[in-house]
Amino acid sequence: MSENRIPLAAVIGSPVAHSKSPQIHSHWLKTHGIPGYYIPMDVAPDDLEHVLRTLPKMGFVGVNITVPHKEKVLEIADLITDRATLIGAANTLIFRKDGKIHADNTDGVGFIQNLRQNAPNWNPKAGPAALLGAGGAARAVISALLEVGVPEIMIANRTRVRADALKTEFGKRIVVVDWVQAGNMMEDAATVVNTTSLGMMGKPPLRVPLDGLHKGTLVTDLVYAPLKTRLLAEAEEMGCQTVDGLGMLLHQAVPAFERWFGVRPQVDSATRAAALR
Ligand code: ATR
Repeated sequence: MSENRIPLAAVIGSPVAHSKSPQIHSHWLKTHGIPGYYIPMDVAPDDLEHVLRTLPKMGFVGVNITVPHKEKVLEIADLITDRATLIGAANTLIFRKDGKIHADNTDGVGFIQNLRQNAPNWNPKAGPAALLGAGGAARAVISALLEVGVPEIMIANRTRVRADALKTEFGKRIVVVDWVQAGNMMEDAATVVNTTSLGMMGKPPLRVPLDGLHKGTLVTDLVYAPLKTRLLAEAEEMGCQTVDGLGMLLHQAVPAFERWFGVRPQVDSATRAAALR
């Protein structure tokens, strides 16, 4: 960004209208009195590279990347952080002053920060984690959980080969469990995470048996619409600590805002309200 320009940022996806990122970043821009703008941009895959090379010249300091571009963007970026390489996808681009595009992935840190803020007593080292799902979101969660020292991650996924591939890639702390046996993971788990889209508004419910859950298990869902999924409601009834998925969305936005605009924003009740508006 040249010094006297108003800083601009965007979220690029297709479709992108559902994204809550504009509300979150616009709220922080206002809170910090920064005269910038953050807009949604629906960009077709074939136009992605051209758009990304043009935006810096127009005063954009960076962009968030969402479906379907999160993997493809790694082929375009000039520099890639280790964590984005590990996850195999980027959600944040920083347009550097030297013209280079720097790709990062803040989903994993967003996941951990959400748990740290909303379950301060959570100890990732206390026992195994049980993960439902083996898609893109699971990759970010696995890399983050391994980094904070979870002793073992049990993964159950409808399509078993995807879970097997994660074991091959992430190593010996991964244990693959059959989808039909997913309920059995609950008994041993200190942390339970739903990374599938099951339970999301408009999607089928998550039907994994939860009777193995016990007090002391932390249960979190990446689904945030609705905020209280069946998984979270049932876990709460069984005395588990629960954390909803909205906080991950808010916390993954923090490092991006800080890099682009030079201020580290707070995730508080006003940020949640802005995202839900
Ligand atoms: P994301 O990037 O959000 O993780 P994804 O890569 O499409 O999206 O992964 C979606 C996850 O939800 C996968 O684990 C998927 O299971 P499959 O690998 O078997 O497709 C899971 N999922 C979606 N719909 C499902 C359903 N009806 N039953 C079970 N799992 C489902």
